[in-house]
Amino acid sequence: MTASLTLSRDATGVPSAARRAAQFPLAVSVRGLQRRYGERVVIDALDLDIHKGEFVALLGESGCGKTTLLRALAGLDQPDEGQIRAPERPSVVFQEHRLLPWATLWENVALGHETTVGRSGAAHALAEVGLSGRENDWPRNLSGGQAHRVALARALVRDPALLLLDEPFAALDALTRIKMHGLVKELVARHQPGVLIVTHDVDEALTLADRILVMRAGRIAASFQPEHHTFDALRSALLEELGVHAH
Ligand SMILES: Nc1ncnc2c1ncn2[C@@H]1O[C@H](COP(=O)(O)OP(=O)(O)O)[C@@H](O)[C@H]1O
Ligand SMILES: [Mg+2]
Repeated sequence: MTASLTLSRDATGVPSAARRAAQFPLAVSVRGLQRRYGERVVIDALDLDIHKGEFVALLGESGCGKTTLLRALAGLDQPDEGQIRAPERPSVVFQEHRLLPWATLWENVALGHETTVGRSGAAHALAEVGLSGRENDWPRNLSGGQAHRVALARALVRDPALLLLDEPFAALDALTRIKMHGLVKELVARHQPGVLIVTHDVDEALTLADRILVMRAGRIAASFQPEHHTFDALRSALLEELGVHAH
């Protein structure tokens, strides 16, 4: 590890310079979270705070419990111990876009919120992701990148306090992924949800996040703030945390 790199290794993953804490309300607060599958403890005494407007990336080797944590935050899974305080039902985007093939794009975006969002709200959300005028089109006519744009529109149409993304761009080609990074940054800056993105891609985390967490042994093992480090030093430190020794 680079000697000049100062790591913030607080157990909670709360940024040491808690600038946002003073300015923004909490989007989610987790204390003492534990999740077991049989005898196996997948999440162990995990603490985490994410503020509205904060973009947090979660890295960790495959099988370390990232999706389990995200599902718990989304209310899709019941923890064995601990508390999760989330002000409202979060929006979730998965690796697969999960659009309904028999529903039009606007119906997919407004799904479950037809009365509050409606057709015009859905059309506005589609325009925000670069798909204006496509309200009546069908998912089968979309490219992979466009389908993910619709998934993002559906996630943001309700202006959620918390946006959870589980490897959302992993299946996209490199060029489309770069475009999606630009789009998601822009949308998050406009809507200001708290964001937790799970990714296995260190460069994606570095591009998007203002806090990067590394999960290991069921806990947040390390927390980094890109603004405090040079890109190369942080990239090396992250790879080292993940057990990859870059040369
Ligand atoms: N429903 C389940 N039943 C039993 N074990 C599970 C279940 N879901 C996940 N696991 C196990 O929990 C661990 C963490 O899984 P997961 O959260 O999906 O990891 P990640 O998303 O970090 O790759 C893995 O070892 C996985 O096999
Ligand atoms: Mg996963």
